Amino acid sequence: MSGFKGFLSHRLGWDLYLKPFLYKKLPSDLGWSATLGSLCALVFVVEVVTGMLLAMYYNPSPDLAYESIQFIMNDVSMGNILRGIHHWGASAMVILVFTHLMTVFFSGSYKTPRELTWTIGVFLFLFTLGLGFTGYLLPWDQKAYWATVVSSNIPRDIPLIGDYITRIMLGGDRISGLTLTRFYSLHMLVLPSLLAIFVLIHIYLIRIHGLAEHPVSAVAAEKPQQGEPAGEIAFYPEHLFKCTILFTIVFGVILALAFFAHVPLEDKVGTIDDAYLPRPDWYYMWLFQILTFFSGSSEVIGSLVIPLGGVCLLFLMPWLSKNNLRGLADRPLATAMGTVSIIGIVYLTLMGFAGARPYGQIVPVPDRTLTPSETVGLAVFVARDCAYCHNIHGKGGRTVGPDLTNMPAKKRTDRELIAFIRDPQSVSRWSIMPKYDLTHSQAQGIADFILALDFSTWDMKIIHRDQILSNQSAGPDTVSLNHSRRHAKME
Ligand code: HEC
Repeated sequence: MSGFKGFLSHRLGWDLYLKPFLYKKLPSDLGWSATLGSLCALVFVVEVVTGMLLAMYYNPSPDLAYESIQFIMNDVSMGNILRGIHHWGASAMVILVFTHLMTVFFSGSYKTPRELTWTIGVFLFLFTLGLGFTGYLLPWDQKAYWATVVSSNIPRDIPLIGDYITRIMLGGDRISGLTLTRFYSLHMLVLPSLLAIFVLIHIYLIRIHGLAEHPVSAVAAEKPQQGEPAGEIAFYPEHLFKCTILFTIVFGVILALAFFAHVPLEDKVGTIDDAYLPRPDWYYMWLFQILTFFSGSSEVIGSLVIPLGGVCLLFLMPWLSKNNLRGLADRPLATAMGTVSIIGIVYLTLMGFAGARPYGQIVPVPDRTLTPSETVGLAVFVARDCAYCHNIHGKGGRTVGPDLTNMPAKKRTDRELIAFIRDPQSVSRWSIMPKYDLTHSQAQGIADFILALDFSTWDMKIIHRDQILSNQSAGPDTVSLNHSRRHAKME
């Protein structure tokens, strides 16, 4: 080698380091799933580049954040595309990182000697989610604000230090400008740096231990190997070629979404809207959904035990089983756990979306004059937000609990209903319905009201929530939304 080429190759250590890195031999039977890691890294680069460009226009102050996003969307040339790529790229990255994690999980590639590679990978997954979480607040719109309110309340369930953690997170008691700058710093300095460093360690470890070969189950391994002995391919060009093809497809999809799909920007923080229903970004939807299943003292199960338990389990995976068998059939427990988690997450996500509609705006009632007791019951139904979980004749609420029109058909008596509503767990042990501390007349009222919901006898009339709230004289003590954490914590 001579001249400039020789100079460069000598100065850069080409023969010693770069060339072996680039031409590293890989198992020839590497499938497409082996490109997932590289894809994650490439999409991260896309996020970094678009993020840098967005940061040139974004202003992390409560007064100007929202306006600066509007400026990016309307005035910066290609600004909406830029934000689109960053937005959809983030979703793509979450999907890719999760798929990568799951592929490694199911192929048992986290086992010896790749325990640390896996641990670093779990960190990378958490950083990715953290980037999504912190990025969410930055547009300073309603959605951003409420999602942050709900999630920043989660640490409060931790005994002793919980409130303190929430304070640190928010930079005070409430969401304020300090929260915004805090999240901004995490989002564009802290987390990306950590992610980049961990990616490097991850790659280094992969290079030391090699990519895992295809898992062979104990059963299959006993059969004699058939066909040609596996040849070898190199990182460059064969593997990189595959990565490039897939990345082009992924980037194409992101680009198409950026052009054709609208990136939401809701009203600015502080806009008053009673009917506003907070929603997280789609990849947190399942967690949000879990929160709604627990209330009161069991709240901590949904907010901490399940999510933290899941993360701990992920970290501990390589150390949970001593054997080094990697075939799916050899690891029934891990396989079952992984499958159940994925099904659960998908199911909860779908449920979250199905339930993320406004509720409680209308109440169907029988078209006749309600008795005084039924009127009290109607007021309780509205004030206590029963529609958060119950429909009446398929209307007005959500479907977490049974439709309340079915109670007359189920031949429930008022006493049974009262006993149930006051303490659901005393009637059915696993009930997820919260207890309602009602006065005697309120309890009798809600039971009478539910039993009046018999639309085979009466026609239906629709009443609006505001109408009911303005008609009744319910003092502040009856208007308690304490049953649902979303609402309780938003107060
Ligand atoms: C967090 C969700 C949730 C809220 C809020 C809620 N419920 Fe329920 N409710 C349920 C679920 C779920 C069931 C089904 C049985 C179970 O799991 O407890 C149920 C069951 C019932 C039943 C049926 C009992 C039976 O005998 O079949 C009645 C009546 C009822 N709820 C009334 C109310 C009233 C009245 C309110 C408001 C004061 C209310 N619920 C608020 C979730 C909820």
